[in-house]
Amino acid sequence: MNNVVIIGSQWGDEGKGKIVDILTEKADMVVRFQGGNNAGHTLVVDGETYALHLVPSGILHPGKKALIAGGVVVDPDVLLEEMDHLMARGVALTPENFMVSERAHVIMPYHRLLDQAREGRRGEGRIGTTGRGIGPAYEDKAARIGLRLGDLRDLDFFRDQAALALAEKNHLLSGLYGLQPCALDDLAARAGLWQRRLTPYIGDTWRALQSALVRGDKLLFEGAQAVQLDLDHGSYPFVTSSNPLSGAVAVGAGLAPKLIGNVLALVKAYSTRVGAGPFPTEQENDLGLRLREKGAEFGTTTGRPRRCGWLDAVVVRHSLTLCGADHLAVTKLDVLSGLPELKIATHYLLDGEKIDFFPADIRAAGRCRPVYETLPGFEGDLSGARKLADLPAGARGYLDRLSELCGIPPAFVSVGPGREETISLHDFF
Ligand code: IMP
Repeated sequence: MNNVVIIGSQWGDEGKGKIVDILTEKADMVVRFQGGNNAGHTLVVDGETYALHLVPSGILHPGKKALIAGGVVVDPDVLLEEMDHLMARGVALTPENFMVSERAHVIMPYHRLLDQAREGRRGEGRIGTTGRGIGPAYEDKAARIGLRLGDLRDLDFFRDQAALALAEKNHLLSGLYGLQPCALDDLAARAGLWQRRLTPYIGDTWRALQSALVRGDKLLFEGAQAVQLDLDHGSYPFVTSSNPLSGAVAVGAGLAPKLIGNVLALVKAYSTRVGAGPFPTEQENDLGLRLREKGAEFGTTTGRPRRCGWLDAVVVRHSLTLCGADHLAVTKLDVLSGLPELKIATHYLLDGEKIDFFPADIRAAGRCRPVYETLPGFEGDLSGARKLADLPAGARGYLDRLSELCGIPPAFVSVGPGREETISLHDFF
C-alpha cells in the first residue's frame, strides 16, 4: 500500500517534521488530519530553518501537494501569516498544490480568549495548553455551534452563525471571566478578510484525496502531537482535544481504515513533555537540564522549556499497539552522547505492584515509579553516521534494546537536526 502515517509515540515533539520532510521527497501528497496550530515543526532544509504550525511541511518540496483535512482546526490569522511567511521565502503555495478543507472548523478569536482565561482560572490545576484555542474550537464542533471554513463563502451566513455562538461566548467572556465581550461587527470584518484571501484555497479535501487514491498517488499523513496526548487514550485531562493516533486518519481525512497502510512511529531517544500531567521518567535534576540544553527542548509553538527524562518503553509500547505501528523512527540519538550510562523504563511499580501499562486513573499514573534497565552509554559526534555500523557500539546497543522492547525495527535513526543527518533503513514508497 502506498500510504504512510506518521505518529508521535510519546508526548509530542519527537521530531516528526524532519521525518515527514524526508518521506515527502518520494510522496505525492502530504495531509494533516488532526490538531491545529498547537503543533510546531522545526525543519532545517538546505541550512534554512522553517517553523511550521499548520501548513504540512511537505510544501517545502516543489511539485508536492499539501492538504489540511477536515479534522484539523484552523486559525485563519495564523494560517495566513504562515502562508505569507512561506511565500516571502520563495515557497510556491498555490490552489493547485495547497488546499484546506471546507469542513475544517475555524478557531475564532473567542476560542483563544476562552482557552487562556480558563487556564488562568484553573491556577495550579492548569493543563498547560498552548493557549491557541484548540480545546474550545473542538468543543464547539462537538456542540454543533462551530464555524467551518466553507461557511466563509457566504458572509451573511457566517455572520448569523457567529451571532449564535457569540450569544453564549460573550456570556462566558464577560460574566465568568471578566473580559471584554467580542463584537460581532469585528468578527464579521475579519471574516471578510479571511474570505478574500483564503477562498481560492478552500475546497473539498476528501475528494482531492479520493482522486489521489484512484491515481495511485503516494500519500503521507502527518500526525501532530502524539498518542499520549490523545483525548481518549492519553493521560486525561492532561491531553489535547483531538485524536493524534493513526486511526484518526480515517475520520479526520476521510480514509477507509483498511487503507491506512504503513504506520511509522516516532520515538525520541529520551522523553519530553510540555504542559502538566504525569511523567514517570521525568528527571528534575542535572540530567534533565542537560537533555533540555543539548536537545534544544524548548517549544516551537510557545517557547516553553520542555520537561525531560529517560525513555519510557511502557508509554511507547502502549502507543505502538494503539496505532498498529510497523516501524520506528528513532530521533535525537545524538543528544544522549557523552552520558556514562543510559536508562530505559521497562515497567512501573504502582503501590508495590509491577505493571506494564499506563493507568487511566491520573492519580494512579502519578504514583507510578519507573523500573529501569541500565545500558552502557556512548561518546562522540554521531552526526556523520549514515549507516548503523558508523555508530559507536553503545549507541547500537541502545537502539537494539529499544527496538526489542518495542517489537518493531527502526526505519530511520536521526543523528542531528539536518535532513541529511539521518540513517535510513527502510524504503516506504
Ligand atoms: P492544547 O492542545 O493547546 O489544548 O494543549 C493540551 C496539551 O497538549 C498541553 O499539555 C500542551 O502542552 C500539549 N500539546 C499540544 N500540542 C502539542 C505539541 O505539538 N507538542 C507537544 N505538546 C503539545
